[in-house]
Amino acid sequence: MLSVFVETSCNRYNRDECEFCHVYEPLMADPVSEWHLTVEQARVMVEKIQRVEVLNTLAQQEINLTGGEASQNPDIVEICKVFQTVTPHVCLHTNLDILSETSKRWQRLLGIMELGGRVDITLYPTAWEKSQKHFLGALLEKQNNLIINVVYESLEHLKLQIDLLLDFFKEQEHVTQLLETYSTKVETLLSEYPNCDEKLFTTHFGDTEAFARKPELTVGLSLLPAFNIDDNGQRSMASMAFPRDQYLIGCPAARGSIDIMTIQQNGEMTPCCDVGNLKCKPAFGNLLMDSPEEIVEKMQGSMKVLASGIRKNHENQTTGKAGHLVEEGIPPYCN
Ligand SMILES: C[S@@+](CC[C@H](N)C(=O)[O-])C[C@H]1O[C@@H](n2cnc3c(N)ncnc32)[C@H](O)[C@@H]1O
Ligand code: SF4
Repeated sequence: MLSVFVETSCNRYNRDECEFCHVYEPLMADPVSEWHLTVEQARVMVEKIQRVEVLNTLAQQEINLTGGEASQNPDIVEICKVFQTVTPHVCLHTNLDILSETSKRWQRLLGIMELGGRVDITLYPTAWEKSQKHFLGALLEKQNNLIINVVYESLEHLKLQIDLLLDFFKEQEHVTQLLETYSTKVETLLSEYPNCDEKLFTTHFGDTEAFARKPELTVGLSLLPAFNIDDNGQRSMASMAFPRDQYLIGCPAARGSIDIMTIQQNGEMTPCCDVGNLKCKPAFGNLLMDSPEEIVEKMQGSMKVLASGIRKNHENQTTGKAGHLVEEGIPPYCN
């Protein structure tokens, strides 16, 4: 999947409503004049994606337009059209924290759905009653599939969000069934292992189905733990953006497979979800500035740098020097 940052600003971080947001700090370094990706920049990106096989392959899986709040980009509908010339699978992540149906942001989301783009949401309990609930209903009148991202800071928080969804989808039996499975599992953990760590959580959830599929409606759930660091400097559950151990990130690129390429608004690429918070160092090229040949060369060079850096990282971890290595060009914790 390609994850393309198309907008720096976000109505929610302007109000400090997502304390856990991992993109706020790195994105806020962007100059205001560059907050919106332009249609022309999107065209340049598309032209390069088509000429670099690795990128084109990832694009065929999906191109995800994100940010910041992508619906705040005034040209987002046109930008979506441009990316649809590479792949039919274009989606957009939104917070759906919108004031009214006359809002430009809502009109843009309608435009994207009319083009066949899929709109996915992140659930925010603080915005649920005042806006998300209404607009999720309106979204489902226009599209019959979506992914709901559930960012949770504790098991209680996860349970609360599943309950909101259970109430919302009560008429759709297949979605209710999926949500009930999650609800029961979280309840068991809450009552038997309230301080459960990630290992236990993962074992308990096993390979629980993430989708409720029916031709008339398919809903996917994506659970994203965003736990705070505890007194011991650890997170009991972690996601890529916030590793449990600051000296160790289970980076898929470091294991040799690129599953996701993040493309920042300035064109810089990283082979994971990093937008600056992980300080990922390998230079995978700049989609706006570099030629396709330069990009391929930088990617090949960086994969070698990653491999040698990981070897040194392993040595450092076994010799008590974790965190010392930076010169190979990767953060001191990729594994
Ligand atoms: C930063 S948001 C940008 C798009 C849009 N504003 C939204 O909130 O959906 C992109 C994705 O990152 C996820 N996210 C935000 N903070 C996170 C965190 N601390 N850990 C993991 N994922 C996070 C959100 O759930 C969302 O799906
Ligand atoms: S809505 Fe998305 S981009 Fe905005 S602050 Fe929340 S997580 Fe971050």
